[in-house]
Amino acid sequence: MATSETVHTLDKDGKHITTVGFQRFGFDSEVSLEALRSLYLRAHYVKTSTSTSSLKNLDGEDDTNDYLSKSIFHPDTGSISYTTLSRFPPVKLLPVSQRKRILVTGGAGFVGSHLVDRLMLLGHEVTVLDNFFTGSKTTVSHWVGHPNFEMVRHDVVEPFMIECDQIYHLACPASPPHYQYNAVKTIKTSFMGTLNMLGLAKRTKARFLITSTSEVYGDPEVHPQPEDYWGHVNPIGPRACYDEGKRVAETLTYGFHRQDGVDVRVVRIFNTYGPRMNPFDGRVVSNFIVQALKGEDMTVYGDGKQTRSFQYIHDLIDGMIALMNSDETRPVNIGNGDEFTIGEFAELVREIVEKVRKEDGEEPRKVNIVYKPIPTDDPQKRRPDTTRAKEVLDWQPRWTVRMGLEEMVRYYKSKMSEGSL
Ligand SMILES: NC(=O)c1ccc[n+]([C@@H]2O[C@H](COP(=O)([O-])OP(=O)(O)OC[C@H]3O[C@@H](n4cnc5c(N)ncnc54)[C@H](O)[C@@H]3O)[C@@H](O)[C@H]2O)c1
Repeated sequence: MATSETVHTLDKDGKHITTVGFQRFGFDSEVSLEALRSLYLRAHYVKTSTSTSSLKNLDGEDDTNDYLSKSIFHPDTGSISYTTLSRFPPVKLLPVSQRKRILVTGGAGFVGSHLVDRLMLLGHEVTVLDNFFTGSKTTVSHWVGHPNFEMVRHDVVEPFMIECDQIYHLACPASPPHYQYNAVKTIKTSFMGTLNMLGLAKRTKARFLITSTSEVYGDPEVHPQPEDYWGHVNPIGPRACYDEGKRVAETLTYGFHRQDGVDVRVVRIFNTYGPRMNPFDGRVVSNFIVQALKGEDMTVYGDGKQTRSFQYIHDLIDGMIALMNSDETRPVNIGNGDEFTIGEFAELVREIVEKVRKEDGEEPRKVNIVYKPIPTDDPQKRRPDTTRAKEVLDWQPRWTVRMGLEEMVRYYKSKMSEGSL
C-alpha cells in the first residue's frame, strides 16, 4: 500500500509541495507537510500483529508514528486497548514575545482541527472550545496532555472567560443536515455564540476572526462573487438558519468593530474539503469518495450541471492565518476558483479512486453515477472572486483539486482499512 511518504504532491505549477504556510505579516505559519500528515494520514491505533515492533520503537527519534496514540486494535475481539501518549510531535520553541495564546472555538471540527494542528506545530498555546455537536475529541486527541494545549467542553451560546491574544471563532455546524437538524439552535449559535466571543475579544483586546461563508451570497446573480456583492438569500428557506445566521454574525462583528473598536477579521470560506471531514454529513466530496470506495452508486443531486469550486484544507488554513495576522478588516473570500460541474466532479472522484486502488494493487471496481432530485434552495453556481485575498494577503490556492482528492481518498481508505469507517 502506498504510504504518505511515497505520495508525491505537486502544486499547480508542477512543483513538489513539501511545506504548507509561509512567513507573512511578521507571522511564520510554515510547517512541513510530512509533520502535518503524520497527524492525519496514519492509522490512529496499531493492530495487534504489528504492535510489538511499533511499541519497541517508542524511543526511536525518527518514528513519527510515535506521535499518535499507541492504542492497540485486537481484531479477534473487535476491541481497542487505549493507552496514553508517550511523546508529542515536536513543536517550535518560540520566544515568549512571539508565543500567542490562541482560542479556537469549534476546534474539534474539521477545519478547526487542522488549524489547531498548524498552530500547535508552530509553537503557540492553543485552547479549544467545543460542545462536540459535530466535532469529535478524537480529531485533536493527539494533543491532549501537551503543555501548550487545552480542550474545554463548552457551548458558545454561554459566555466564556479566558485570557487570550487571538480568537478564531469557528463554532457552528457547517453541513446542511447538521445545521438543519435544529435550525433554532443554529441561529442561536451564530448569534449568541458570536456575541459572546466578541464580548470576550472586547474584554481581552484579543484579535477576533470569524469563519463566515460563501452562503452569505445565497443563490448569487453575480459570478464570480466579490466581497462587495450583497448576496441573494432566501430568509425563510431551509438554509436560512445558517445563511442568515452567518450574515447576522458578520453584522454583529462589524458592530463591535465600529462601536467598541474590536480588532476583527472576517473570512468568507468557500467549499472546503480534506481529511477529518465527517464522511456522512452529506457534503458532496465526502459523499462521492465514500460511495466510490465502497463500490456503491455515486449520487448526484439535480442534473449535475450546477457548478462548485472546491478548495483543499491546507490552502484555507494558510489563508485564515494570513488574514488573522494582516491588517485587513474587510471580509476576505478564501476559496479555489477552479470550477467544476458536479457531474464532472463525480467523474474525477471516480477516476482518482480507481487510480489509488490500482496503485495499492487492488482490483478496480467500476461504480455508476446516478441522478436524484435537487434539494430546495441549492445554489446553481458559486465561485469565489479571490482578487482581494491575492492583493492584500498575497494568498492564492496551491493545491489542485486532483492532489487534494488523492490525499482525501487515501485518508478515507486508511479509515476503512482500520475499521473506523
Ligand atoms: N467546511 C467548509 O467548507 C466551510 C465553508 C464555509 C464556512 N465554514 C465555516 O467554518 C467553520 C468550521 O466548519 P467545519 O467544516 O469545520 O464544520 P464542523 O461541523 O466540522 O465543525 C464545527 C465545530 O463547531 C462545534 N460547535 C457547533 N456548535 C457549537 C456550539 N454551540 N458551541 C461550541 N461548539 C460548537 C462542533 O462540535 C464542531 O466541532 C464553521 O463556522 C463553518 O460555518 C466551513
